[in-house]
Amino acid sequence: MKSFYITTAIDYANGKPHLGHAYEKVLTDVVARFRRLSGDDVYFVTGLDEHGQKVQQSAKARGIRPIELCNEAAESFQGLCKGLNITNDDFIRTTEDRHKSVVSTILQKLFDQGDIYKAEYAGYYSRRAEQFLQEKDKNEDGEWPEIFGDVEEIAESNYFFKLSRHQDWLIDHIKTNESFIFPRFRAKQVLEFLKEPINDLCISRPKERLEWGIPLPFDADYVTYVWFDALVNYVTAAGYGTDEFEKRWPADFHVIGKDILVPPHAVYWPIMLKAAGIELPKSLLVHGWWLKSGEKMSKSTGTVVDPLDLIEQFGSDAFRYFVTREMNVGQDSEFSLERYMARYNSDLANDLGNLLSRVLTMLGRGFDGIIPATQLEETLEQELWKGWDETQAKVLELFEEFQFHTGLERIFAFVSSINRYAEQRAPWKLAKSEDPIDKQRLDTALFAMSEAVRLAVGLLEPVMPETTEKVYSLLGHEPDSDWRKRLIRNEDLAGSTVGPKTILFPKPPVEA
Ligand code: ME8
Ligand code: MG
Repeated sequence: MKSFYITTAIDYANGKPHLGHAYEKVLTDVVARFRRLSGDDVYFVTGLDEHGQKVQQSAKARGIRPIELCNEAAESFQGLCKGLNITNDDFIRTTEDRHKSVVSTILQKLFDQGDIYKAEYAGYYSRRAEQFLQEKDKNEDGEWPEIFGDVEEIAESNYFFKLSRHQDWLIDHIKTNESFIFPRFRAKQVLEFLKEPINDLCISRPKERLEWGIPLPFDADYVTYVWFDALVNYVTAAGYGTDEFEKRWPADFHVIGKDILVPPHAVYWPIMLKAAGIELPKSLLVHGWWLKSGEKMSKSTGTVVDPLDLIEQFGSDAFRYFVTREMNVGQDSEFSLERYMARYNSDLANDLGNLLSRVLTMLGRGFDGIIPATQLEETLEQELWKGWDETQAKVLELFEEFQFHTGLERIFAFVSSINRYAEQRAPWKLAKSEDPIDKQRLDTALFAMSEAVRLAVGLLEPVMPETTEKVYSLLGHEPDSDWRKRLIRNEDLAGSTVGPKTILFPKPPVEA
């Protein structure tokens, strides 16, 4: 069986992990867990982009070797994955031998085929962007935009990869493969870019300017341009050149931010693969940015939120819930601690957390901690279960389409409906009644509330795996190995012994 192969972008080693990096890993992990729970053989890779000028410069400024800086970064990004409960199968680092050897193989192949040639090049170069610039990159005032930093004029010989001859093929590929870029509106942006003739890509940097890179196999005076090196990570990690490759490649999804769609992932990467005779990835899943005060959160603007702080204070499930609930995949989203607290308090602590502790408390007091069985179903129960059937079907559909934010909204609407059911059924009143019918209603209500909570947290599993596990265990529930079966209402909870009253989402130490 072919694996479901999904990747994140590999983060620059030259900086600390921030909310944007954390979000991308969570989003990818949610998809990976969802596919795994749906029965796919998932292969999930994330990693670190370790070469290039910036790493070399930062290391030099700190008086350490580039690899030392990368080792530190690898530890910190791997720590982030752990903190976020990410289920990656591999963590690729571009300084590993396995990767250097694949980059060399592909470069040599393209060189031997005549897809790479050497030429003299004179022009403007941005160190910050690590790329050559053209007149058209200037702004309306005829100046270089801020993002390029200091722009120098340089003349040097370099190696170029022939892109332009694949332009028509690429346009056709994007037009005919509706699912190649998701969300679809981003494909327009790519096609817009491809309306102009594209230049061949400079894939080398002379050693005297940049040492921290993979040497060109056909000319040791040069190292490989960092994007050419970085993109290849996806095939390295799939085991290019080994038996595993067939099983994993093509990638089902490359998950990336919108800033690295055009040109790297939508232009360079497909053309590199096409030229190398490797199949294209099936799809690029492109997310938007986390903003702070309207601007992209990034190291250079100093507006970063440290995800590890949030995880430490609120737990990893709360973090995963917040980012997945707030971000409509494809759009941008503004981060604020107030919003974070509001979601935490209202959705998690109140709606879900209090519901569970209420159920556990009532079961502990009046039922010796044993969940009773349904005795009679009335309109209130019928409505609750009808609501579940609709929620379950709709949420699975939304998750399939990466509409996780609306999926979560639907799940929490169902949680609210359980709370409404509790208010209306008022088991605390039924408990005081002498009427035998009310005793039946009481049993039914406690079963219904327990079962409804079990169902809701089952559907939350791709996003909040720890919560799901914890609630199952508190309800004394042994989950079926088939996830879809876990989402179907049954009577199995009747008779099971629950745990003590537990606060799922405690009030954080400091209020915002
Ligand atoms: O681009 N909001 O690395 P990177 C959401 N090494 N996502 C964000 C973000 C934000 N504020 N800031 C960054 C690189 N990202 C390259 C990738 S892949 C072969 C090489 C996302 O550390 C960004 O869009 O700058 C990208 O997908 C990922 O984080 C890594 O960004
Ligand atoms: Mg970036």
